[in-house]
Formats: sequence, C-alpha cells, structure tokens
Amino acid sequence: MRLYLKKFFVVGLVSLFIISVMLFYNGNEGPIVNKSVKVEDIETRINKLEEMMDNQLTESGKLLQMVVERIREKKEGPQAEGEVNYLRAPDVGKAESKGTVLPVLVIACDRVTVKRCLDNLIKFRPSKETFPIIVSQDCGHNATYQVIRSFTDADPSITVVRQPDLSEIPLERTNIKYKGYYKIARHFKFALNHVFKTLGHEAVIIVEDDLDISPDFYEYFQGTYPLLLKDSSIWCVSAWNDNGKKQLVDLSRPELLHRTDFFPGLGWMLRADSWAELEPKWPKAFFDDWLRDPVNTRARACIRPEISRTYSFGKAGVSKGLFFDNHLRYIVLNSDFVEFTKRDLSYLLKENYDHNFTKYVYSLPESTAEEVMAGAAPGPAARVAYSNPKTFHKAAKRLGLMDDFRSGIPRTAYQGVVQCKVKDRRVYLAPDFVWTQYDRTWE
Ligand code: UD1
Ligand code: MN
Repeated sequence: MRLYLKKFFVVGLVSLFIISVMLFYNGNEGPIVNKSVKVEDIETRINKLEEMMDNQLTESGKLLQMVVERIREKKEGPQAEGEVNYLRAPDVGKAESKGTVLPVLVIACDRVTVKRCLDNLIKFRPSKETFPIIVSQDCGHNATYQVIRSFTDADPSITVVRQPDLSEIPLERTNIKYKGYYKIARHFKFALNHVFKTLGHEAVIIVEDDLDISPDFYEYFQGTYPLLLKDSSIWCVSAWNDNGKKQLVDLSRPELLHRTDFFPGLGWMLRADSWAELEPKWPKAFFDDWLRDPVNTRARACIRPEISRTYSFGKAGVSKGLFFDNHLRYIVLNSDFVEFTKRDLSYLLKENYDHNFTKYVYSLPESTAEEVMAGAAPGPAARVAYSNPKTFHKAAKRLGLMDDFRSGIPRTAYQGVVQCKVKDRRVYLAPDFVWTQYDRTWE
C-alpha cells in the first residue's frame, strides 16, 4: 500500500509539472524563449510555478489524510449509528469519581530518601480516605524500614508491607549485571498482588521512592480515572512526559493531556482488571519495557500529560546516574494546580480523539526539522515527516526529542506521531506513509 501511494503521488506530481509547463508555453504572453521577455518576468513565472507546486503538495497531504481515514474505516468497519466502539458508557464529561478509593503504592527498597517522597505525598494529599498510602518495601534494608515506620506510626492511613522473598535470584552469568531489574520485577509483582488480591482495591497509583509529585498529582489521577473506567482502549494513566523538557513543552498549557502508545511509567495508574490480565504473564525483568510491547497490553494506549506530574530525583538507582544527568534532571515538574476533576476530558476518548488527531496532523503544512529549529516554518503548527528509523532519528535529534524505540514505538508516540512544542510552534513528527501499526524491527 505504501509503494502504491508513493507511485500515485509521484505520477500526480509529474503530471502536474507537465501540465504547468504546457500551460506556461501556451500562455498569452508567449513562450519563455522569447528574447523580449525580461529576466524579472521569468522569475515571476518560476515563483508562480513554485507556488503551484507548494499548493499541490498541500493538496497531496490532504489526499493522503483522506486515504488514511478510508483505510482505517475499512479496517475497523463503519460505526453503526449510536454505537460507540471503544466505550463502556457513552460519555465521560466531568469526573464522577466520588467514593472511589485510589490507593497510592510506594515502591521502596534501600534508600532512606523515601522520606522526601512520602513527605510530598502527604503534603499534597487532599484526602486520607480517598488516597490511602501503601508502602511496599523490598531489600530488607532496616534504616529505610525505620523511616517508613515513622510515617506509618504517625498516620493510620499510611501502611507498610514488606516483600518477603529476599532470596538471590539465580541468573546466567551474562544476566548478573541486570540483577536489579529482576528484583524490581519480582517486587512489583508482589506489591501489586498485595494491593489487588490481598486488599481488594479497584485501582492503584504506583509511585517509585525517588519521585517528587506536583501539587495537582492527586487531582490528575482522580480526574482521569473515569477515562480508565469508560474507555477500554486505555489501560494506563501516567504522570510522565518522556519528552517533558522545558524547551519541548507548552508551559502555558498545564491542563493539556494526550494519548500515547508508549508506556511512560514513573507515576502511573492501573486498574484491577488490567492487573488480572498482566499478572499471569508478568516478566522476570525489565517490566517497564515489557509493558511497552503491544503484545502484552493488547496495543492499548495510556494517557500522559503535556507537563509531567512527577520528577525523578533518583540519581543513584539501578540504571545508574548517566540517564539522570543526560535526561531525567531536565524534565519539568508541573507547578500549577489544574482542577482535572472539573474539566471535560472526553476529548481523550478514542472515538473523539483519533479522527480529529489524524485529520489535524495531516492538514498541517510540512516543514523540515531544520526549518522548525530556525523558526522558519509557516503557521503555528507544523508537520515534520519521517519515513524510516533513520529519518526519524535525524529529525528527533534535531528537534531535541528522545530518539529511541521500544518494540518499534518512539517515546510519547501516538499512532506513529510524536508531538512537542518547540520554538513556539507545535510540531508533529509524523510518518509520511499510511501508518497502520508499529514495526518492531525499528530500533
Ligand atoms: C528504571 C526505571 C523505573 C523502572 C525500573 C524497572 C527510570 C527513571 N526508572 O529504574 O521506572 O521501574 O527501571 O525496570 O526510567 N527497587 C526494588 N528492589 C530492588 C531495587 C529497586 O524494589 O532491588 C525499587 C526502588 O525502590 C524503586 C524502583 O524499584 O522504587 C526502581 O529502582 P531504581 O533504583 O530507582 O531504578 P531505576 O534505574 O530508576
Ligand atoms: Mn529510579
């Protein structure tokens, strides 16, 4: 299909060019070779021709967009009137999550700095009843346990549970360096089973012990919870924007949220029924990358914010400090308070979002990453096209975006499109072919 489309456009462009040239030669003003024609005239004509070509390119973009939609419709089948495909209930509107208990699960190990995390969780917590805090501690580190106990002793809405299996995990020699990731996966499995199976909660917000939270962290999860209930194409809500550096986000839009196919982690909400699906096949290590494989999440999406609601201060961690120094430390933590529970978030529902998203992205004028960075792209929003991993890497690097893939998915991508706000312009790094699914050979 990709080849076919390309051919279609090439043939279109060539025909247009020939027609333009013919018109040009047959025009009232005579052929271009006429010696009486001034250089300025020729320039004007060339400019006109360029303009026509530009218009044609824009038209081609629109055409491509129409083709994309038709293919989608064919694939998914036409929507029967009144039928809402991805919803369990017809409208979300504002959050109606009164009475919902959303426990916060804190994953701790051997860092006494869990105090910083707990202090913030308490500082911004609007209700002890709605948001009980459950600390799960791995690693058997006594000093850390004592810190946690100082919180649980003072407040009965904070509890602690200890991961009982502290045995060494037998590993092949080549995997010994990944031991930490095996332990983390084992601990998450225990902790989530504790929350869902032992305590019987409906949903959970997972926080690692090296995360700070924004003032509206609870409001964010409470406000988005109805999406998780009503849109079965969403399996998680995350507080994290992987491309959340200040030069890549719109700091004037803290209320803006997006759908993403890339699991962001780092402060995220999960429902009991999703855990019931994931638990039997839970991996032995690298659970976060495992959750980025569409095979494991049935290719469902997550919600993520324009501006992160968590900040990682964990320089000394299992993945060491390099990632922190090069990347994590630059992610902006939101400081405004957005009343998400009072906002209409129905634009994030699949049936509303997808159609508008593709239509909008492919209606935008195409620019290069260089033009965007030079502030030379036209209009308030631009589309930068990529066609393969190489052109993706190149454009992503130029724009300052993360350029890695997991299971073929770029960070923050939705249906192949990565968006950011750069140099005062919203930019969509988008496939120049009809996207239907991620290609896991892309890396
Ligand atoms: C990285 C990810 C993290 C993910 C983890 C799993 C970032 C910034 N961090 O961990 O989100 O969960 O990979 O692949 O991308 N822990 C235990 N037992 C241990 C060691 C650690 O429970 O034996 C806990 C820690 O308390 C923490 C979490 O696991 O809550 C992650 O550990 P950390 O040391 O922070 O590793 P990262 O490199 O950040
Ligand atoms: Mn960490």
